[in-house]
Amino acid sequence: MTTPKLDQALAGEIEALAGEGRAKPPERVITGYLPPAGTRGPRYTILGQDREFIRLNSNSYLSLSQHPALIAAADAATHACGVGPGAVRFIDGTFSYHRDLEERVARFTGKPAAKIFNSAYTSNCGLALAIGSAKTHWIGDQLNHNSIIRAMRIAGVPSGHKGIYRHNDMDDLRRCLDEVEDTIERVVVIFDGIFSMRGDYAPIDRIEAVCSEYRDRFQDGVITVVDDSHGIGAYGATGRGTSEYSGATPDIIVGTFGKAFGVNGGFIAASEMVVEAVRQKADTYIYTNPLSVADCAAACAAIDICDSDEGLQLLAALRERTGRFREGLTRLGLESIPGPHPVVPLMVRDTARTRAMVQGLFDKGVMVVGLTFPVVPKGDESIRIQINAAHTEADIDYVLEILARLQ
Ligand SMILES: Cc1ncc(COP(=O)(O)O)c(C=O)c1O
Repeated sequence: MTTPKLDQALAGEIEALAGEGRAKPPERVITGYLPPAGTRGPRYTILGQDREFIRLNSNSYLSLSQHPALIAAADAATHACGVGPGAVRFIDGTFSYHRDLEERVARFTGKPAAKIFNSAYTSNCGLALAIGSAKTHWIGDQLNHNSIIRAMRIAGVPSGHKGIYRHNDMDDLRRCLDEVEDTIERVVVIFDGIFSMRGDYAPIDRIEAVCSEYRDRFQDGVITVVDDSHGIGAYGATGRGTSEYSGATPDIIVGTFGKAFGVNGGFIAASEMVVEAVRQKADTYIYTNPLSVADCAAACAAIDICDSDEGLQLLAALRERTGRFREGLTRLGLESIPGPHPVVPLMVRDTARTRAMVQGLFDKGVMVVGLTFPVVPKGDESIRIQINAAHTEADIDYVLEILARLQ
């Protein structure tokens, strides 16, 4: 033990977290993946468990992580350029694979340019550093992801330059815009596309309509930003995400390669100048090594699949399985939050029952995540269930059967 006093203090802090119900349980360790076979979808093995598990807590909505085209692309890139970049982007850490992925993201999102990051988390932090200024006011949905909240803190946004509107409440967004001081030059309205704990989505068409009423009031306008980490690739007729689903595209799109695209990394897609500002000013881009070429090549392959007939078939399968599961819940009289996204919350509204159901599912080989207070407000205790395109009808029916027995 080299830090006994620090360790003791940290133990006290972690104990306090546990007392507040905020401590994370030990992590389960996945030891293997079994590809789909016949009527059963993919299965996973877990350290210390002797059965196989269905994963209903993965963000890999199109089940691309094990796709042979992604693995082959990662393999070829690694063999061509190695496993690490050797430096940050501006010190010759930029490879053609980074550029190719940025061009691919721009094309996919319909934006003039894009920059890639190690994650969507660092993308949000970088964006706040790049487009914020002393005269910028930020407005966000009350249920925004932790990375957006943290981004505001990292960028040092003072409390007087921030507004929070009630979840998806357009009148409250208007109130926040009305409250912006006249000295402000730039307003940024930032929101999750899909709210990851609930599976509901931001009404981007309505947000754009409200913001456009205020654009002329500020020198640099009102800039809209969606973090569509759970939407991109998985939502909308062609997987373009919440913009496609809601029929309006914000000025800036943040996304991840780590969910529907099945890889790792994040991006910002926007105008050429916003992207250049990111390159010049976003510390989480500038001072850290970029993604490996393997990640970039795999992400490009994932977007190519998403943009092909195969992608449309995967999206159709995802919609079908999600619909089947949601209908099953309704048949069982179980409560959810309606919507077509593959995040399907099962509202249990009781901590002990949520924990018992999560354990009951696990005992039958089903991995889900339970959300209890203080992660969600008291009374909103739920089980987050995530469907993916590789789940079979038999998988969905099996899970429903267990839920029927557990309720
Ligand atoms: C809205 C949102 N933004 C960002 C992230 C983080 O994504 P990444 O793993 O790429 O950092 C998540 C995922 O948890 C998310 O839901």
